[in-house]
Amino acid sequence: MVNIILFGPPGSGKGTQSANLINKFGLIHLSTGDLLRSEIEAKTPLGQEAKKVMDQGLLVPDEVVIGMISSKLDANPEARGFIFDGFPRTTAQAEALDKLLALKKTAISNVLALEVPEDELISRLLNRGATSGRSDDANETVIRARIVEYHNKTAPVADHYSRYGKFKKIKGEGTVDEIFERLSKEIESLVEEKV
Ligand code: AP5
Repeated sequence: MVNIILFGPPGSGKGTQSANLINKFGLIHLSTGDLLRSEIEAKTPLGQEAKKVMDQGLLVPDEVVIGMISSKLDANPEARGFIFDGFPRTTAQAEALDKLLALKKTAISNVLALEVPEDELISRLLNRGATSGRSDDANETVIRARIVEYHNKTAPVADHYSRYGKFKKIKGEGTVDEIFERLSKEIESLVEEKV
């Protein structure tokens, strides 16, 4: 299996690139943000609790997202591999993911970290907020809170994987196609290693 974590701050392009990469490599896209938004849309109790936290730009409790990912891994026993987008976002989530994958006799192949300057992140998210109606893109205060949460709680996940030599920075500026090429090259080399 090839299991990639697409890592990076809010607005760095994880969702955009995941959508294209899964088509090219036949992987399954697991986005905890998308899973949480589905719960909100379905007005489930979990979704209603999560919305309160997400609208402040804060992280949902670890056990909630770990449970979601665990169910999705179980639901896809034949997968060739996964692209994890927006997960893991804390060191506790990374440790839980490692254990879940080990139970399935697999592991993270690499973490590809999109690097984009903060001004560009804010401008991308404000633009999207104007058209998508995503409530956590609605104003700059919430966007900045998401970025602070990323620096405080998510950035340390880089150290967790760097220790195993599984962390690669990728320039996240440029056109969507240019970034797709950079990411594809990395994933192709992992696929070749497996053959
Ligand atoms: P989540 O949905 O994961 O959002 P995020 O990480 O904040 O990421 P975004 O979706 O905003 O950005 P992205 O990097 O995917 O970029 P995108 O491709 O969309 O999480 C939302 C919330 O859910 C969290 O705040 C938290 O509350 C909760 N949550 C989720 N997972 C959790 C977890 N594991 N633990 C706890 N809580 C969790 O692009 C952004 C914009 O830029 C788009 O408009 C796009 O068109 C544009 N764009 C993309 N690439 C380019 C480019 N190259 N040039 C110009 N524009 C571009």
